[in-house]
Amino acid sequence: MATVRCEKLWKVFGTLSASQLAQIRDQNLTKEAVATRFNAVLALRNVSFEVQKGRTFCIMGLSGCGKSTLLRHVNRLIEPSFGQVHLDEVLVSALDRRALGDLRSRKIGMVFQSYGLFPHLTIAENVAFGLEVRKVDRRKRREVAQEKLRLVGLADWADRLPGELSGGMKQRVGLARALANDPEILLMDEPFSALDPLIRRELQDEYVAIAQSLGKTTIFITHDFEEALRVGDELAIMRDGEFLQVGTPDEILRRPADAFVAKFVAMATDKLGRKEPPDSMRAGAMP
Ligand SMILES: Nc1ncnc2c1ncn2[C@@H]1O[C@H](COP(=O)(O)OP(=O)(O)O)[C@@H](O)[C@H]1O
Ligand SMILES: [Mg+2]
Repeated sequence: MATVRCEKLWKVFGTLSASQLAQIRDQNLTKEAVATRFNAVLALRNVSFEVQKGRTFCIMGLSGCGKSTLLRHVNRLIEPSFGQVHLDEVLVSALDRRALGDLRSRKIGMVFQSYGLFPHLTIAENVAFGLEVRKVDRRKRREVAQEKLRLVGLADWADRLPGELSGGMKQRVGLARALANDPEILLMDEPFSALDPLIRRELQDEYVAIAQSLGKTTIFITHDFEEALRVGDELAIMRDGEFLQVGTPDEILRRPADAFVAKFVAMATDKLGRKEPPDSMRAGAMP
């Protein structure tokens, strides 16, 4: 059974009438057409996918293609123009305020690119912040914080302040914090994108190990195709608000759906196979 199921999601940013919105959907307009005809931004174009329990679904695409917008539909930080989101067969748009708050604080954990740690709280207090809001007592909070910090390799840093940590360590704290409530679902929006390549690689490997041991259902967003191949059980390639291809890393590497996907595949295989990419594959010649 799918834990997360998005069906035919459309999102248009801009002030449009209901009939204009319907026109966009019914005529299946592209992002470009919506910009020209309505001076609005089509951020999602008929996106559907399912994530099975315990799996990591990776959404990969270049900046501005709609990844964050899509992720924010899962916990209803954004309402769709059309379409539905189900979590464990519960229709998210049907939840009342209280149920939605509960969903966001207990069922879902989020990790962002910017760590968002409170600078004046210790690492342990940052990790346990959500528990404190929920009035969990001090001893239990400390216990949970220690447990989650151990998981991300920072057991000895519980009483330090965020300012003493490197970027990679802060992002580990971010992950520990997201895990503190034992959420069923993790939403990760480019968590490692701001980190140096070596540190990023290290965190990817650790993340995969943690994800496998915990079995969390995860949606992981990245603009880095190689990262997507590494962390995703399944991945979706996104462009201009739509999914171009969904499949396992292996399926995508073997049979890229179109020229756009094929360019990423060529670049990744080239990097793995040779030391120096040819000029046409260098950054700047990105698809
Ligand atoms: N609140 C908003 N109002 C108007 N346009 C937005 C808003 N949020 C995002 N967009 C636009 O929607 C598109 C998708 O944005 P986003 O989901 O942030 O992309 P990504 O996360 O892939 O970089 C972009 O063209 C962006 O400019
Ligand atoms: Mg984004």
